[in-house]
Amino acid sequence: MSKLLEGKSSLITGGGSGIGRATALAFAREGAWVAVADLSLDSARQTLKRVEAAGGQGVALQVDVAEDASVAAMVAAALDAFGGLDIAFNNAGIAPAMVGATGQKIADVSLDSWNRMLAVNLTGVFLCLKHEVQAMRERGGGAIVNTASVAGLLGLANASSYPVSKHGVVGLTKVAAADHASDNIRVNAICPGYVETPMTEDTFQRHGNRIIARVPMSRFGTAEEIAEAVVFLASDRASFVTGSCWTADGGYSAV
Ligand SMILES: NC(=O)c1ccc[n+]([C@@H]2O[C@H](COP(=O)([O-])OP(=O)(O)OC[C@H]3O[C@@H](n4cnc5c(N)ncnc54)[C@H](O)[C@@H]3O)[C@@H](O)[C@H]2O)c1
Repeated sequence: MSKLLEGKSSLITGGGSGIGRATALAFAREGAWVAVADLSLDSARQTLKRVEAAGGQGVALQVDVAEDASVAAMVAAALDAFGGLDIAFNNAGIAPAMVGATGQKIADVSLDSWNRMLAVNLTGVFLCLKHEVQAMRERGGGAIVNTASVAGLLGLANASSYPVSKHGVVGLTKVAAADHASDNIRVNAICPGYVETPMTEDTFQRHGNRIIARVPMSRFGTAEEIAEAVVFLASDRASFVTGSCWTADGGYSAV
């Protein structure tokens, strides 16, 4: 069977862990070159090692997606490495625990915590998209996938500003898809449900049984299952799919 992303150049943020790492491996398996970018260069390098061990090729990059200059340098480095950019997976994100907001209700969220969540989870996707679109225009088109969440579709209680940031990613995805269809660039979002990654380890330890009881498939997802949906959205098989928000959540948002 032919590979879905043969000869494509790709860029993944948050590629050092969880869903980003699994997607880097899946992109490489499908024949893409992969620029693995993360706040932690060390974890990006760990992912790249796994990509190379599996026969793939790429580069590891450091980025803070909340910083415009850092994002510009990341995209420039990917262009230097590959000569162009066909696919981007804007996936870096943080959870409430990372902004001191575990279990908080919206009125209790501090302004600093709110600002940092939106800076990484929403402005970070905007900045990536902005620089990637410029690069993809040079190439004559491309495909972008943003990581939202089921929390971008539902008003989750006690999740502080996280669902707000992800609703923003859903809106940004739709607007960008409409704006850049004429550039031959497709923009979609993946909305994972509860997936086992380092981000969710603590939550699942504390509330795992309660969460699973609300998932029709009665289990958590794996990062690899999310990666397969991202591969499809990034591939030419999804040639008429743009502005969509694909749930991969074991039925969580269906009930
Ligand atoms: N795990 C889940 O259940 C779940 C569900 C829905 C959505 N998501 C989303 O999926 C994405 C990936 O999450 P994950 O579960 O793989 O988490 P993870 O913590 O395993 O990976 C996130 C990665 O993003 C990186 N990162 C954080 N801030 C960054 C920044 N400012 N710049 C660059 N990189 C940064 C981290 O270093 C880490 O490697 C996130 O956007 C998350 O919100 C996760």
